[in-house]
Amino acid sequence: MQKLNRSIITGTGAAIPDRVITNEDLEKLVDTSNEWIVSRTGIRERRMLEEGFSNADLSEKAAREALSRAEVSASELDLILVATVTPDHHTPSTSCILQARLEAFKAGAMDISAGCTGFVYALSVAQQFINSGIYTKILVVGVEILTRFTDWEDRSTCVLFGDGAGAVVVEATEDENRGIINFSLKSDGRGAKLLYVPAGGSAMPASEETVNNRMHYLIMNGNEIFKFAVKAVEDTLYDLVRRENKKPEDLDMIILHQANLRIINHIRKHLKLPQEKFPVNIDRLGNTSSATIPIAMHEEILAGRLKEGDLVAMIAFGAGLTWGGVLMRW
Ligand code: ACO
Repeated sequence: MQKLNRSIITGTGAAIPDRVITNEDLEKLVDTSNEWIVSRTGIRERRMLEEGFSNADLSEKAAREALSRAEVSASELDLILVATVTPDHHTPSTSCILQARLEAFKAGAMDISAGCTGFVYALSVAQQFINSGIYTKILVVGVEILTRFTDWEDRSTCVLFGDGAGAVVVEATEDENRGIINFSLKSDGRGAKLLYVPAGGSAMPASEETVNNRMHYLIMNGNEIFKFAVKAVEDTLYDLVRRENKKPEDLDMIILHQANLRIINHIRKHLKLPQEKFPVNIDRLGNTSSATIPIAMHEEILAGRLKEGDLVAMIAFGAGLTWGGVLMRW
């Protein structure tokens, strides 16, 4: 039987806009309070991309850092995957724009749309291309400019989201002790309308009426998503570890999608695992959707908390509905 290649992450990068939006700033926009936002979500501030910049700008910054840390030149890349629901345009893909900017002319490029689970989906796709021996060097970016799709008159959503990008370089390795071990990808389209943007697509093209009715912004049923998220994360976690005859307590780190600090704390308490195993950036960045996990990963590496040999699970959930995870030995 052909020996399958394993995939390791050899470099990470992140890009965070400079502009900070605090809860106090939001108090001036909608009927909310710092106390409500912190106690219900754990968010203290979020970042907003400055006017004149776009998804591709943040993607490029994060990608260049990941490539530099991996010591991989863009010209060596076989594939570029950008996980996002807030691309620069409906078409072409942001990954193609990024490919040109990086001059990664050997690489194929595609965007992956899987809500906040986008990065987990993209990393699993990268692993499959490497596993099969087709490619050896892939750039995966998780990026979101959600503040451009947020209704700043809707207090139930505008306090939640922020902008950011994280990137990783995934490479083939013959080291059997490291790399991606398994993954789980799930979806349930019956929940499509729990989190969606009604207008602007082919189902309801943008018109004066859709704009006037604010239908090109995100609409969310927060309570239902919350209930779904807690179950989806736990199911995925057990699925990942049981397949390797392991238990949650065997994990050195669990990088969860950052949608609400209460979701993270609920899961941590239920699993009876220590706080330090659960990286948090939602307090500073809000929910950056596809970017929460790669940014957290990058931050943990820079802080020296994520180390070679660590057993790590990354788990996300989001619009679609989608959910899933990746288990890897760092
Ligand atoms: N400030 C003050 N009050 C508010 C605000 C606000 N920003 N937002 C809502 N409220 C009010 C509501 O109107 C409601 O008032 P009422 O009782 O008078 O009707 C009250 O607060 C409680 O509202 P709930 O929605 O029940 O509040 P909850 O505690 O559930 O928190 C939240 C809402 C934070 C949205 C939570 O449900 C949540 O985080 N859900 C998960 C969201 C999520 O994970 N999204 C992932 C998306 S991933 C992706 O793909 C982008």
